[in-house]
Amino acid sequence: MDRDTADNVRRLEIDGATLLRQIERLGEIGRERDGGRTRLALSDQDKCARDQLVQWMKELELDVKIDPIGNIFGILYGEGESCADALMIGSHIDTVINAGPFDGVYGALSGLAVARAFRNAGVRPLRPLIVAAFTNEEGVRFQPDMMGSLFFTGGIPIDDVLATRGIDGAFLGEELRRIGYKGETEPSSLVPADYLELHVEQGPVLDSKQMEIGVVENLQGISWKRIEISGTANHAGTTPVSMRRDAGVAAARIVVFLRELALSSEGTRTTVGSLRFSPDLINVIPSNAVLTVDIRDPESARLADAEKQLLRFLEELRTKEGVELSVKSLARFEPVRFDEELASIIEDAAKKRGYSSMRITSGAGHDAQMLARVAKAAMIFVPSRGGISHNPAEYTPDELLLQGVHVLLDVAAGRLLKGGNKTEV
Ligand code: GLV
Ligand code: MN
Ligand code: MN
Repeated sequence: MDRDTADNVRRLEIDGATLLRQIERLGEIGRERDGGRTRLALSDQDKCARDQLVQWMKELELDVKIDPIGNIFGILYGEGESCADALMIGSHIDTVINAGPFDGVYGALSGLAVARAFRNAGVRPLRPLIVAAFTNEEGVRFQPDMMGSLFFTGGIPIDDVLATRGIDGAFLGEELRRIGYKGETEPSSLVPADYLELHVEQGPVLDSKQMEIGVVENLQGISWKRIEISGTANHAGTTPVSMRRDAGVAAARIVVFLRELALSSEGTRTTVGSLRFSPDLINVIPSNAVLTVDIRDPESARLADAEKQLLRFLEELRTKEGVELSVKSLARFEPVRFDEELASIIEDAAKKRGYSSMRITSGAGHDAQMLARVAKAAMIFVPSRGGISHNPAEYTPDELLLQGVHVLLDVAAGRLLKGGNKTEV
């Protein structure tokens, strides 16, 4: 590394106080009475968080661009105005219902913290840095999840996206226009060479092993389905059990089957996170049940096998319980391996900072899995206390949050300035 570069690298510092203050500020948007926050994709609360993020991007004089699905990008240009060869640092700012403060927000605002480090030091990167917040990562209101990054990487046509109907009946396209985030930027103009995402682990591995940094090697495949069961509503007191077409019992059997499937597998995880009966009354046999299925596995073949087993079980259930069944696929993503070169650069950066680290598999879905289709992609995890996430109790101490962003800065500096990593100086 030449002298000037080494000098520039040395001047880059994360403003930790501003980062922590911004995480707290975003966490106040959509605040619930019991301490969590809800910013479902394209809701009023999401708009408010987007407006705040865009304001912070403008304060850093980033060039803000919005694409047709509402993905937000803040660009710190390199030597020219082209985004070829860019490094993108991103995540999301939408949440599940009653979420913790860090999921997504930590990664997006850490990208901003890296841009701030360049601005504060008066250092211009040689390549562009793009800070990204992708639309609808959570997939709670509109499916599939990771929708913004899926669109950005060419995995779903815009017409399908805009026609997607949410769980509240709203159309995505209308909501996007309503909150003023239907942009025009052509995604292909911003496809980066490298993508980094910093995230809380959202699981118990790092915390239980007392490790400070997770170097994410791979990410589980995901299969989401919606199953609708139709039976016959009838009187709870008069209808003999043998004469029932009970959608509720059929749904319960699916829940138990999926738990047993997971227990008998080496690595499959299964969840029924939503189950609704109708008419949903104490003395009426349910005529209808709608449930969601979430199956995940880091092994592609095992994920496909779990899906097959479920479909076979549903066929048996149809006959045994005398019910009608329909199955709709809501999301289906193969497992992903992240870029090995970037993973070892992250590992090195953690080591040079004196932080303990380990290789880890991501149990959660992330925008990085979509970006891995078009760029060299990698992820950095910090521990989640007790492995709690998608819950207001999600917690990571400030010190660990800042360690994560220091590793991110070092890796980013190595990519954005000629020569190696900051810690090599
Ligand atoms: C995204 O949060 C997921 O469901 O993994
Ligand atoms: Mn997330
Ligand atoms: Mn999440």
